[in-house]
Amino acid sequence: MTTSTFRAAVVRTPGGPGSIEIIDVPVAEPGPGEVRVGIAAAPVNPVDLAVADGLFHARGMINQPERTGLGWDFAGTVVATGPGVDLAVGTRVAGLVTGFDRDFGTYAEQLVVPAAGLAVVPGGLDLAAASTVPLNGLAAAQIVDLLGDPPAGGSRLLVTGAAGAVGGYVAPLAQDRGWQVTGLARAEDEEFVRGVGADFTTHTEPGWDAVADGAALQERGLALVRDGGAFVGVQPGAEPATERGITVDAVVTHPDGPRLGGLLARTASGELPARVHAVVPLDQAADAHRAVAKGGVRGRYVLKP
Ligand SMILES: NC(=O)c1ccc[n+]([C@@H]2O[C@H](COP(=O)([O-])OP(=O)(O)OC[C@H]3O[C@@H](n4cnc5c(N)ncnc54)[C@H](OP(=O)(O)O)[C@@H]3O)[C@@H](O)[C@H]2O)c1
Repeated sequence: MTTSTFRAAVVRTPGGPGSIEIIDVPVAEPGPGEVRVGIAAAPVNPVDLAVADGLFHARGMINQPERTGLGWDFAGTVVATGPGVDLAVGTRVAGLVTGFDRDFGTYAEQLVVPAAGLAVVPGGLDLAAASTVPLNGLAAAQIVDLLGDPPAGGSRLLVTGAAGAVGGYVAPLAQDRGWQVTGLARAEDEEFVRGVGADFTTHTEPGWDAVADGAALQERGLALVRDGGAFVGVQPGAEPATERGITVDAVVTHPDGPRLGGLLARTASGELPARVHAVVPLDQAADAHRAVAKGGVRGRYVLKP
């Protein structure tokens, strides 16, 4: 039994947290290859603050006539399936929606998404924790793809923002690929960074073989790379200009169901960190945005519709 509308948090005229509104949206039926998910948890990510602030509207990347959806990743339960879908109603799943210019998002009671990008949440993992994995776990995995294998004799990787959501995954995932990782983070984050198997620093000098820029230091991060090294950033379209023969890339995170399944399994086993700061009602999205904007929050605010 479904209701004819569901609640979603959106911005009409972006202007910071105060512009977030909860509205009623018509329920849509899933088409071929799609499922409708009843969302149980949707994290607040830095990109959502930028969308609500109007950064991407100002850049011409969002042109919605009525409203812009908020939220990128989620966990929940399949409530309806379209033709050709091999997931049963009731299955717990997590996933990711991407792209800036959309009138829907995961800050909502429901979402219709392609089944192919979803992963089943392992039994031992709660949905709030699972919801924090897709965007930043996949971003990190895809950053490590861009880094590739370390060149012979050149495996020293600096991860900036190593205590953040992206950096906290890059540190362990890059070690799997053979990188020797040092995390740049705040002094109070030393225990976390060492806990994911990385060396730790609060200040550093140039000369790294590669930098994965989870803190979005941009030019300051690039300056830390040795001549001929590699830089992978998190702000596609705003990459720092290359210099000194450095390879410059930026990740554009995309859904990948099988990869997400692996990340969720490693989160359930405790091998990867699961970091929830607080679970708050969807109605408190604006307050959660204000709290995140102050900085220093470790683990995600997770909205519960
Ligand atoms: N392109 C993509 O597809 C993609 C995907 C996911 C994320 N992103 C972007 O990646 C960035 C990171 O996201 P996130 O969710 O990981 O953010 P986050 O959880 O806020 O992590 C950023 C971390 O960097 C730290 N930091 C900032 N400046 C620092 C400095 N000078 N020295 C040491 N640490 C510093 C922050 O500490 P404080 O909190 O103490 O400042 C925080 O721990 C954001 O810009 C996000 O939008 C991009």
